[in-house]
Amino acid sequence: MNELDALVESAAQGFAQATTPADLENAKALYLGKSGRITELMKGLAALPVEEKKTRGAVINQAKQAIEAALNARRQALADAELEAQLKAEALDVSLPGRSLGQGGLHPVSLTLERIEGIFGSMGFDVAQGPEIESDWFNFTALNTPEDHPARSMHDTFYVEGGTQTAPNLLRTHTSPMQIRHAVQHVQRYKALLDAGEPMPEIRVIAPGRTYRVDSDATHSPMFHQCEGLWIGTNVSFKDLKVVFTDFCRTFFESDDLVLRFRPSFFPFTEPSAEIDIQFPSGPLAGRWLEVAGSGQVHPNVVRNMGLDPEKYIGFAFGMGPDRLTMLRYGVNDLRLFFDGDVRFLSQFQ
Ligand code: DAH
Repeated sequence: MNELDALVESAAQGFAQATTPADLENAKALYLGKSGRITELMKGLAALPVEEKKTRGAVINQAKQAIEAALNARRQALADAELEAQLKAEALDVSLPGRSLGQGGLHPVSLTLERIEGIFGSMGFDVAQGPEIESDWFNFTALNTPEDHPARSMHDTFYVEGGTQTAPNLLRTHTSPMQIRHAVQHVQRYKALLDAGEPMPEIRVIAPGRTYRVDSDATHSPMFHQCEGLWIGTNVSFKDLKVVFTDFCRTFFESDDLVLRFRPSFFPFTEPSAEIDIQFPSGPLAGRWLEVAGSGQVHPNVVRNMGLDPEKYIGFAFGMGPDRLTMLRYGVNDLRLFFDGDVRFLSQFQ
């Protein structure tokens, strides 16, 4: 091996031993730097005669190119290794399960309210919403329940300071005040017709929402839901109540064999009044009467408070408990579970 081949060989070995770019640059300086071996050889050419300078120069140049090639190859190898190490360190495991945002869903009672609205909507009922902080007048007095009426004692509620007959002063104990609120608005809208003695379009509405009472056990929560229903016209009878409510219950529970019972009862705002019980033809609750609503023919005093003549206008009302309907539909026996906010329980209804 001649002197130059040996030089190329030792440069290649030096480069191979360099494990970092800095090491490699130091090794390069030994051969190609200002006083490196190749540079020194080039300088030595100056002293040679022209012909020899040419041939010797070409050979040195070849060696220089070989050294540069080895240097570049090693540079590339070190860069590749570095990239490789970096990729390894920052590796993404694309087989890991993704982080989902988690899908929300409606509360079981909201699902029931949607169902109720859908069914009554298909029977031509509007949906009305009203205030939860209500006045004594709408919650009691206008519903034929004057102050000191014994029926008020079953509706103990949360009162706020102040309040007048019409200014809000309590948390509503039922959705029945919406009968008055909605009817008064309706009457206002059709005032011109009424004044002219023309028939007014019927009032047909449900009013779902939150209600409050001082009550708490497995089947009562201080906050609970009700859904009011009201149908007022010139010829709306108790028979219509039976048809509408029976149809509703059978659709809601998806059972044509569901049996209903209208049990005589008392409410100040209806006369006659009935509590509505249902009985499932099969399943774990079969054979038991389960109360689901209060109802009746709207009392003439209430019709009057709506701004209508009870001699001309007549109809029925009902108030049911969507929480109870939800418990019956899903077989839940503790109402409080719905309002504890435990997602493990609530997500079962999606
Ligand atoms: N508001 C009554 C209650 O909470 C339920 C009720 C009974 C509503 C009869 C009505 C009705 O509309 O006609 O106990």
